[in-house]
Amino acid sequence: MKDIDAVRNEALSEIDKVRDLQELRRVKAKYLGRKGVITEALKRIREIPAEERREYGRKVNAVKEEIEEAIKHREETLKKDEINRALASEWEDLTVPLQNTVGSLHPITITLRRIVDIFRGMGFTVEEGPEVELEKYNFDMLNIPPDHPARDMQDTFYINREGYLLRTHTSPVQIRTMLKHRPPIQMVAPGKVYRRDDDPTHSPMFHQVEGLVVNEEANFRHMKYVIETFLKELFRTDLPVRFRASYFPFTEPSAEVDIGCVICGMKGCRVCKWTGWLEVMGCGMVYPAVLEACGIDTDLYQGFAFGMGVERIAMLLFRIDNIRVFYENDIRFLRQFS
Ligand code: DAH
Repeated sequence: MKDIDAVRNEALSEIDKVRDLQELRRVKAKYLGRKGVITEALKRIREIPAEERREYGRKVNAVKEEIEEAIKHREETLKKDEINRALASEWEDLTVPLQNTVGSLHPITITLRRIVDIFRGMGFTVEEGPEVELEKYNFDMLNIPPDHPARDMQDTFYINREGYLLRTHTSPVQIRTMLKHRPPIQMVAPGKVYRRDDDPTHSPMFHQVEGLVVNEEANFRHMKYVIETFLKELFRTDLPVRFRASYFPFTEPSAEVDIGCVICGMKGCRVCKWTGWLEVMGCGMVYPAVLEACGIDTDLYQGFAFGMGVERIAMLLFRIDNIRVFYENDIRFLRQFS
């Protein structure tokens, strides 16, 4: 019994002295863990003479509760201290007048502008479309069948209005542009898109840049030339570009475009998954049904289109391996782009 009192006093004084949550966890394990002092004391109850057993059990359990209570209390205080310390050291005074301080562009804005500027230099116009889009433009008129998995509730954000959704890609701006303007068309469309995705390389909101060219002779070689010229300019590199056959409902033939890994110079690394290549965009010749749905005569006109993810490109340009940092607005991250 005397020992138990000693243990109690020792435990309480140790709890009082710990300076952080890690130390507290150690103390907790020492007394209450599987091999802890109190746990062992409870196991020893069988060795206690029968007439003292009841009193012993009551006592040990009371001490156990007291220690648990003290730990809980200490934990709360330590957590509060931690928050107060963070508040004291990390605050920013938003009322301080600016003195020769200018803001800077967000890395996604920088990347978007670089992409769009390159296409502007090649004679492309810039189009925009709404983020709340007609299902008809986002899917139907792009030849995406009614049972396509991309339409699934798991992947698409539908809104409380029949026939509308948050656009899942910038491709509906192709439709809007063709309904509005007669060919020749040579446009890019930057903007936000939404998908039900959330992990270190996917965010529920991200950015794409779409491209569309429609004229009397647009062909696959024109597309290759435009895309290769764009990628070499964007990444400032002579690394090779390759077109891999692929499938999109709105283009035929379709391709995925890879550029030699700009991180490792094609030697193989974690980012290119040791293939030496990075996938950077999708493209293809616009499917005739898509042109026709927009009232474009396919005997006279053909088109090619492409689409790319801006975050993915920004992550490669700035060597960032987690998409989260773009949206956290941590001033220490953002300052690096000024
Ligand atoms: N819309 C596609 C996506 O979100 C990207 C894309 C692929 C756009 C091929 C295109 C294209 O215009 O031709 O993944």
